[in-house]
Amino acid sequence: MPRLIIISNRLPVTVNKKQGELHYYPSAGGLATGLNSLDETLDKIWIGWPGQALDDQWERESVKHHLAKDGLVPVFLSEEDIELYYEGFSNKVIWPHFHYFPQYTSYEDHYWEAYKEVNKKFAEVVIESIQPDDMVWVHDYQLLLLPALIRETYPDISIGFFLHIPFPSYELFRMLPWREQILRGMLGADQIGFHTFDYMRHFLSAAYRITGYEHYFGKLTVGKRMVNTDVFPMGIDYENYAFPDVEEDARSGMERIRRQTQGRKLVITIDRLDYTKGIPSRVKVFGRFLKKYPEYKTKVSFVLIVVPSRSNVDQYRDLKTEIDTLVGEFNSQYGTFDWTPILYFYRSLNFSELTTLYKVAEIAMITPLRDGMNLVAKEYIAAKEESKKGVLILSEMAGAANELYDALIVNPQDINEMADALKTALEMDEGEQRARLEKMQMRLKKYNVKNWAEDFINEQMRLMEEQKGENTNLLTEQDIQGLIEAYHKAKDRLIVLDYDGTLMEFHPDPMAVVPDEDLLTLLQSLKGQAGNQVVVSSGRDRDTLDKWLGPTGIDLAAEHGVWVKMGNRWKSAHGVVNAWKKDIRPVLDNMVERTPGSFIEEKQYSLAWHYRMTDKDLGEKRVREFRDTLLYLTANLDLQVLEGNKVVEIKNAGVNKGKAMLNWLSERDWDFIMAIGDDHTDEDTFKVMPPRAFTIKVGMAKTAARFQVVSVGNVRALLERLV
Ligand code: UDP
Ligand code: G6P
Repeated sequence: MPRLIIISNRLPVTVNKKQGELHYYPSAGGLATGLNSLDETLDKIWIGWPGQALDDQWERESVKHHLAKDGLVPVFLSEEDIELYYEGFSNKVIWPHFHYFPQYTSYEDHYWEAYKEVNKKFAEVVIESIQPDDMVWVHDYQLLLLPALIRETYPDISIGFFLHIPFPSYELFRMLPWREQILRGMLGADQIGFHTFDYMRHFLSAAYRITGYEHYFGKLTVGKRMVNTDVFPMGIDYENYAFPDVEEDARSGMERIRRQTQGRKLVITIDRLDYTKGIPSRVKVFGRFLKKYPEYKTKVSFVLIVVPSRSNVDQYRDLKTEIDTLVGEFNSQYGTFDWTPILYFYRSLNFSELTTLYKVAEIAMITPLRDGMNLVAKEYIAAKEESKKGVLILSEMAGAANELYDALIVNPQDINEMADALKTALEMDEGEQRARLEKMQMRLKKYNVKNWAEDFINEQMRLMEEQKGENTNLLTEQDIQGLIEAYHKAKDRLIVLDYDGTLMEFHPDPMAVVPDEDLLTLLQSLKGQAGNQVVVSSGRDRDTLDKWLGPTGIDLAAEHGVWVKMGNRWKSAHGVVNAWKKDIRPVLDNMVERTPGSFIEEKQYSLAWHYRMTDKDLGEKRVREFRDTLLYLTANLDLQVLEGNKVVEIKNAGVNKGKAMLNWLSERDWDFIMAIGDDHTDEDTFKVMPPRAFTIKVGMAKTAARFQVVSVGNVRALLERLV
């Protein structure tokens, strides 16, 4: 098992300087509490901010020394860093924006500048601490740029990234002026994890629309690397909450609470002070509930625990005032001499207090407006392991709702529904409480925080092996050595190369993909080596191919095999006709009319409809819509419909790249054959090749080729090595 380097903004221990003295406390919040309960046996170090600005060198050394005992490495931030990077960009830009509060997003460039700088500061500490075989795991929204920064120094190190908050829909994400840099920062990782599939699909959609990287079952090709995205819902340390090690404490604590609330039913809510948690609307729900069901007056106590958080950020300060006022008004309106309806505490709880409250409360009402996961909900369920009594009311906007569907799920904007859920919870019979709890407990027990981390890490290790070519068709260094050896041994070599997506990257405008000087030189050198026959086989029209590649003197196949050029002479495939075009063209015209960004390319013997500039989903929908019409029309005309990369082509049946290859294959008894291509149409080439040929697919889709490479860059590098 490699050593794990965890990096998060906040360390699990927070330093607090009071009257010149340094005190150490456990940090609050889902990330710190969750990761802190990871397997102790894991060989790991944890890098992060200790939560306090310390300028004095002696104090810094003392903190460093103190934290080192637990494998913690501090990144020291100045007052200014904290203000601009932590309170600023992290908590006034990313946090509100990613939680669907764009009205709170602060578009300040100096926050962004500080964010970049502090991410670099983290990178420096990480780079100092890394050893060659380590695995790096970066956490959360404060460090979105860090994966790419580490990658710059360590191109081959395995980097994971986990986002603990939602990833918003593309429509919202696109508003950020720094959207592309943020995505590229994250894409420095080999694996990017999210709590839910919704967050993952929003990320993939943004990555596609903003950077153009397409995914194949969650895997993206970024340069020469592959990046995996996946869903890993974070769990809790189940046993710790189910059987808290605080027996004596807890018993007396529970009795005290019971005495104080005179046996009334207890509804708890526990959150960090945060506008995403919907705390004010919960107070409103209690009000609506008491109005609708006045028989519950004096029978229920609401315990509202608000944990101080980010108190230097305006919105948090304002929220505190709002809650103070609301609770004050509420209690003065509904309270009686012996009943305070809302018991309000603005402070953090220790573990014993927290678990005692979980155990004693009949109901937990966890109704955030948005929440990446919400661990409090899971902890509450675990705490009911022994009693099997208790009801969870949970917002559908919390990531946890994807797993805890046996809770009473509510829309946190619907005050009426929530008030009714409260009544349902109070009246739920014990049999139903038990049944619901047991189902949720079963899941949480199984998918605990240890499993979560193991799943993430194991998947990352598997990817590492995959990148090395183990367990896949990926062309390994060993394969390349074998290929080069076979190349040098051979006397008659046939080399078939597709053009777009194989030798050249795609571009929204197909006519902009003119070969660069390096490519022309490369093809010329290949052709120049004695015994080589080089063919570029493309779907492009023959005039363009001739203009672009003719000067190299290599052989060509154009229009997916309609035309072949052997030596200096072009000839067309047998029996191709083009009288059908006038019948098909109107259908394609109609597709263009209805599909902005698409266009028709007319070749001598074929018609192609391109949609690279069209929204991907719209393009695919149109293809599906028109497929039947086209198949119907073309069947009578002896035509075929080919689906390429963002293009649909209609052409004479029986002509394809594979058939065209027979011209060269039958020419000689080649002792070395290599064919490289990236799209569906190249599969025909692969299929006609003899089994010993080196057939290579660019991209990760299913293929008949023997080998796969990730990118155009890999193809170019391979050809360079041959010459
Ligand atoms: N928690 C804490 N101190 C408290 C109250 C809660 O440390 O006084 C813990 C709680 O046990 C949970 C975490 O803080 O593990 C809150 O995580 P959650 O995912 O619910 O919300 P977040 O703070 O991450 O938004
Ligand atoms: C959420 C975030 C964490 C953060 C925690 C507490 O759980 O996802 O990254 O650490 O809140 O917030 P704080 O700003 O105090 O670190």
